[in-house]
Amino acid sequence: MKDITIISEGHLMDSGLLSEILNLITSEELDYRIEKIDIGKKAFEPSRAEIKIFAEDTESLELVLSKLIPLGAYEKGAVNAHFELSSRDSHAPEGFYSSTNHRTEVYSGNIWNPVEEQRMDAVIIKKGNRFICTKIRDIKKGDAVLCGSDSVRVYPPAAEKKDHGFAFMTNEVSSERSYDVAVDTIAEELRQIKAKGGKTVVVCGPVVIHTGGAPALSALIREGYIQGFLGGNAVAVHDLETYYYGTSLGVDMKNGKPTHGGHNHHMRAINKINGFGSIKAAVEAGDLKDGLMYQVVKSDIPYCLAGSIRDDGPLPETVNDMIEAQAQYAQIIKDTDMILMLSSMLHSIGTGNMTPSWVKTVCIDINPAVVTKLADRGTGQAVGIVSDVGLFLIALAGRLGLDF
Ligand SMILES: NC(=O)c1ccc[n+]([C@@H]2O[C@H](COP(=O)([O-])OP(=O)(O)OC[C@H]3O[C@@H](n4cnc5c(N)ncnc54)[C@H](O)[C@@H]3O)[C@@H](O)[C@H]2O)c1
Repeated sequence: MKDITIISEGHLMDSGLLSEILNLITSEELDYRIEKIDIGKKAFEPSRAEIKIFAEDTESLELVLSKLIPLGAYEKGAVNAHFELSSRDSHAPEGFYSSTNHRTEVYSGNIWNPVEEQRMDAVIIKKGNRFICTKIRDIKKGDAVLCGSDSVRVYPPAAEKKDHGFAFMTNEVSSERSYDVAVDTIAEELRQIKAKGGKTVVVCGPVVIHTGGAPALSALIREGYIQGFLGGNAVAVHDLETYYYGTSLGVDMKNGKPTHGGHNHHMRAINKINGFGSIKAAVEAGDLKDGLMYQVVKSDIPYCLAGSIRDDGPLPETVNDMIEAQAQYAQIIKDTDMILMLSSMLHSIGTGNMTPSWVKTVCIDINPAVVTKLADRGTGQAVGIVSDVGLFLIALAGRLGLDF
């Protein structure tokens, strides 16, 4: 019989992490013995457990360990990490470790070292004394790639439980959750982030424009609550359509009725911007004087409009090279405190894929399944507010006392 001892630390009891770990071991049909357990006695005092796992062979132990690592468990008496050199660009050695979005450390040089650029679905490369998450496509021949998972330690948010402010919001989706409390909490969070000079980024779909949420979001940007804007072609197109023609998708924004010939307004809006060369140029020329994209440009916050196969035009600023768009998104969300995902499944999931799990992530969508989808793809920290996005933004800007 072979065995390994794992250590698990953090909020093991109230988060249900310990039972999750034990269930995982038994579901692999392995035996275990809890060697030691210290339970935190006060609220927010961490616990620590040492668990010995038994198996017939080393492969079963390695497999269970690789599954326990995302739950924050690590091997007792970790050995120094093993790195192998990449034999060619964009190619990792066979046994590479695939990262999670949780805070991670690598045991190397007899100490635990923090990992930089944390994101899911990356490899970890050692550069001098630095350990950096890197997409497979960005690996260069000769890079030292971490292999195996026995010298890795991750910190899932459930184990850390540092922030009590969002405690009311679990990541379960419920349309019955008190909407008022949720809006209040986000308004307070925005105030605090602004006061400390932090960063909030929005991911924005065109529904924000259709539902009349753009003036409220523009006010949040104007007043310095938002430090980055991510979207696609459509949000900008329909915002420009609203400014130039008073419609969104041909629907009159004042009375909600389709306008005669309105179906081509968005094409005319794209054409107008093409005449200037960019949205920015239209603002600088004094032609575009209001609206969401005007405010983004005027406030000088970084933005990226990522292209897609659905796009009309696209607008000159829409980034159609997907690798480049992902890189710009990743740059804009760097060191972000909070991300508000506003009714775009495509861009919300795309952003979630590159966001570390400690970033507060709120997804506002009318469809509860969208938050579930986000969580299923690894963005488990996302909390959902099931609401019409226009009404949500109006309530939020109102709670912050903004004019719009
Ligand atoms: N004219 C164009 O160029 C054009 C038009 C549409 C979409 N697109 C592009 O297609 C891609 C996908 O578009 P998307 O992000 O809009 O689609 P998406 O399907 O990814 O997301 C739309 C989301 O909005 C939610 N939603 C619908 N009504 C809502 C409401 N009232 N309140 C809150 N949430 C609501 C839906 O449940 C859905 O999750 C983007 O890249 C976009 O730019 C381009």
